[in-house]
Amino acid sequence: MLKFCNVNFKYENDAAPLIENLSFKVHRGDFISIIGPSGCGKSTIFRLICGLEHGYSGNIFINDNDINNLKGYIGYMPQKDLLIPWRNILENASLPLEIRENNPKQAKKEAEKFLETFGLGSYKYKYPKDLSGGMKQRVSFIRTLLTGSEIMLLDEPFSALDAITKLSMQEWLLTQWSSFKKTILFITHDVEEALFLSSKILVVSQKPITQLKEVVVPLSYPRDRHMLSRPEILDIKEKLINELKQRVEL
Ligand SMILES: Nc1ncnc2c1ncn2[C@@H]1O[C@H](COP(=O)(O)OP(=O)(O)O)[C@@H](O)[C@H]1O
Ligand SMILES: [Mg+2]
Repeated sequence: MLKFCNVNFKYENDAAPLIENLSFKVHRGDFISIIGPSGCGKSTIFRLICGLEHGYSGNIFINDNDINNLKGYIGYMPQKDLLIPWRNILENASLPLEIRENNPKQAKKEAEKFLETFGLGSYKYKYPKDLSGGMKQRVSFIRTLLTGSEIMLLDEPFSALDAITKLSMQEWLLTQWSSFKKTILFITHDVEEALFLSSKILVVSQKPITQLKEVVVPLSYPRDRHMLSRPEILDIKEKLINELKQRVEL
């Protein structure tokens, strides 16, 4: 589904590269988390996949097509929800459809269905400032979903939420993932979140990023929080935390 082949990347003003000869693959339908300390280049990987950074070498493929030949192939939910403050919830959610199909009325109709499904129907005429953090993230997720892309990149979508909202949003996301059958790449620095959500975790294990260490989560879906207290999961958690701690000290 997604393939990095020998990708090298450096921000123009930096002396050292951030990504060096990086190759990895993501399969269709996977739920992959990328974890690593802050500033190590996780969001940059997303920016590359979205085609927002051009000065890279190597190839990035989606379904065997080089991303340079593709358009509108990604649903990207950036680190901040980026809802447009002067558009109401419905107008925010319908934006990608509006852009794609140039038919605002039809776009709103479609987005309305999604807002109903996601329990936000009664908020459609409210503005982002009137919603709680969890609700805004849901609107932002709907907007990402309505891009129609098979692959969704979610950059720390829950990191600003309080602990309890975060747990319920994680469960909510897993339900959406299983019903919409998308491929999800999810950035987080929360090891427990990564373990609860993903089938595989990619760990950023050095700077520059030359490879992503792959850790398979030995749990089936649907997930239940109790699964996180299994000895084998606690063991993986401990190892991941130690690994991240070492990176922070670098
Ligand atoms: N647009 C940019 N221009 C220049 N440097 C950037 C830009 N975005 C990020 N960086 C730098 O690249 C490094 C990695 O950033 P980022 O990918 O955002 O890391 P992460 O998401 O893992 O926290 C950081 O040192 C950051 O300052
Ligand atoms: Mg980031």
